[in-house]
Amino acid sequence: MKSQEVVLKMKPNIKEQSVEEQSSSKTKDVSSNTGVKEVTLHDLPGVGAATAEKLEMAGYSDMMGVAVATSGELVESGGVTEATARKIINAARSALDMGFESGQDFLKKREDVIKLKLKSEAINELMGGGFETGAITECFGEYGSGKTQIGHALAVMCQKQDPDAVAVYIDTEGTFRPERIVQFAQGAGLDVEKTLKQIRVAKAYNSDHQMLLVEKVGDMIKKDGLKIQVVIVDSLTSHFRAEFIGRGTLAERQQKLNKHMHALLKLADMNNICVYVTNQVQADPAQFFGDPTKAVGGHIVAHASTFRIYLRKGKKGTRVAKLIDAPNLAESEAAFVIAEDGIKDL
Ligand SMILES: Nc1ncnc2c1ncn2[C@@H]1O[C@H](COP(=O)(O)OP(=O)(O)O)[C@@H](O)[C@H]1O
Ligand SMILES: [Mg+2]
Repeated sequence: MKSQEVVLKMKPNIKEQSVEEQSSSKTKDVSSNTGVKEVTLHDLPGVGAATAEKLEMAGYSDMMGVAVATSGELVESGGVTEATARKIINAARSALDMGFESGQDFLKKREDVIKLKLKSEAINELMGGGFETGAITECFGEYGSGKTQIGHALAVMCQKQDPDAVAVYIDTEGTFRPERIVQFAQGAGLDVEKTLKQIRVAKAYNSDHQMLLVEKVGDMIKKDGLKIQVVIVDSLTSHFRAEFIGRGTLAERQQKLNKHMHALLKLADMNNICVYVTNQVQADPAQFFGDPTKAVGGHIVAHASTFRIYLRKGKKGTRVAKLIDAPNLAESEAAFVIAEDGIKDL
């Protein structure tokens, strides 16, 4: 394969570089433009030509990919020992000057966060201004509560805010409907053809395929230069739930789901993408009072999600979204309606 691509010209500090890529309008740190150093996978201790090629084949085309990999992943794909894997990762991290960031740097990164707005002001307010990029938002609720509709709306509305924005829709249940995109685009006053063109849809046939598609999104950004702003996984858990049945397989399922969530988190964080995942609910027999439902995937999904929304049907066809978990927002509710032309206020 393209082993020559292993040789990558990288600036010593990747943080500035990724910020530049994410928002070209931001002023650059002058210090990052000086002393451009070439760091390649070959320079890493323990990486010979054969290992470099294996890593490359496994998709580790740049230093950042290695730096944020787990040692287990490198053992699996690079055929190196656990100890070497750790050494490689640490070397990649120090080559990229990763580690602690100051509060200032962190705040700067927060400034790059985009808040994607729907037509419903109530939902936008609930989300602290909109659905954040650089984070995972999990939306769970019973069948027909509107999880998929919100996914469609996000794919359209991100383009209202940024005409170049591209949305990726990973459809696991076969519920993606271009007709709904057309309606939402018309409702938002957007060019319908352009809106459709800027939504890339893939049907995931099983959980492995679903995970592979997430890797592909990374390629689409790197190779095709697409400005992907939203990635929708609808639904996150249906394949996992169908494929791992029975108590004996639960641990295995959770492990795989954990890996998937981390891949999504990495995608969101490294590329400033809003990842929106939908999740089913299952009856919780242990809960006699209140709402007898809880999200599939348990703590694994709940922990990896930055924001969690619980959707339910309200009176007279309305819907209620409840923000369950958010790092800096109060738990509250918003009522909305699913209309032909958008997700709107009552
Ligand atoms: N064109 C439309 N106009 C108004 N409401 C719609 C339209 N299409 C779908 N809906 C509403 O959305 C619901 C389906 O929501 P959906 O997002 O698919 O649920 P889920 O949570 O299962 O993904 C339908 O029951 C209907 O109430
Ligand atoms: Mg759905």
